[in-house]
Amino acid sequence: DRLFNKKGALIEVHPGCVCIPQGYKHFGERILDLQIRPDDVFVVSFPRTGSTWTQELVWLLGHDLDYEGAKLPQQIRAPLLEISAVLSNDEDILGWVNQNGDLLDLMEQAPSPRYLKSHLMWHLLPRQIETVKPKIIYVARNPKDMCVSYYHYCCLVHRMNPDSFEEFCDLFLRGKTAMGNIWDHIFGFWNRRHEPNILFLKYEDMKKDFMAVIKEVARFLGKNPSEEEIIKLEEYLSFKNMQKNPAVNLKPLMDTLRGEDYMGHENRSNFIRKGVVGDWKNYMSLELVSRFDKWTAENINGTDFTFD
Ligand code: A3P
Repeated sequence: DRLFNKKGALIEVHPGCVCIPQGYKHFGERILDLQIRPDDVFVVSFPRTGSTWTQELVWLLGHDLDYEGAKLPQQIRAPLLEISAVLSNDEDILGWVNQNGDLLDLMEQAPSPRYLKSHLMWHLLPRQIETVKPKIIYVARNPKDMCVSYYHYCCLVHRMNPDSFEEFCDLFLRGKTAMGNIWDHIFGFWNRRHEPNILFLKYEDMKKDFMAVIKEVARFLGKNPSEEEIIKLEEYLSFKNMQKNPAVNLKPLMDTLRGEDYMGHENRSNFIRKGVVGDWKNYMSLELVSRFDKWTAENINGTDFTFD
């Protein structure tokens, strides 16, 4: 709690002592009980793995490249399941997001097929995903870059106020930042990746060969875009275009938060911030790098999971 102002505090939920913004206590049960439909399409990830980028890809492929429809904010077209829980700590922000009433109600009533997003771990997602088996696209990212990106995001959105980046890393490594331990998160999906309704992606592969990932996701969704359409889609989803696209860059929310200048911390970053692999080199000391590498090695030991 020392690290948060009271609007940003986290609680731990069971099983697994997962750290979650305290608003979750009002919405957690409803999320677990949400009725799932066979044609729902989920994008799930730990925060800051490129899920907004992935979601935009998935939504556009799923909607036969409806660029006109994609002008509506992504959080309306493909809402974050736990958005009310994450943002309900703060009435100003909740008011901004929740202008249309209760967001979970809206998700329950939305016409099929629904496109939904979540940063929750497997066991905190709606229980029916186990039985109904909707399509789930999971995206993972190397933990060092994820941590750097999450540091900027948490200082701004979750109102965290760590003394230093190192202090934030310490919490991240102990699974005490919002959404908990990344390995529990990743393995909840990695261990199910061979199930036909699950597609497991990595941010680094998207950066290396986005064309190939577009084709993979299209196949998974049963779509068959032409080469020309894929080239256009790749350009539309490029970092520079995403950063200036008001439907995905969360500019109004970021402006609201920035305007309040919460902690005087380094919180003036964009939601779509830098979009590179290896930004950790600009932030981490050799000692921190070796801590991350050791922690990663310990956690993937005995599994076939790797990061490029
Ligand atoms: P950085 O902070 O490292 O720049 P999420 O959407 O899951 O919160 O992930 C956010 C991360 O994805 C941010 O990383 C953001 O810049 C990156 N991102 C968003 N759109 C991107 C794109 N088109 N290409 C590359 N990275 C992108």
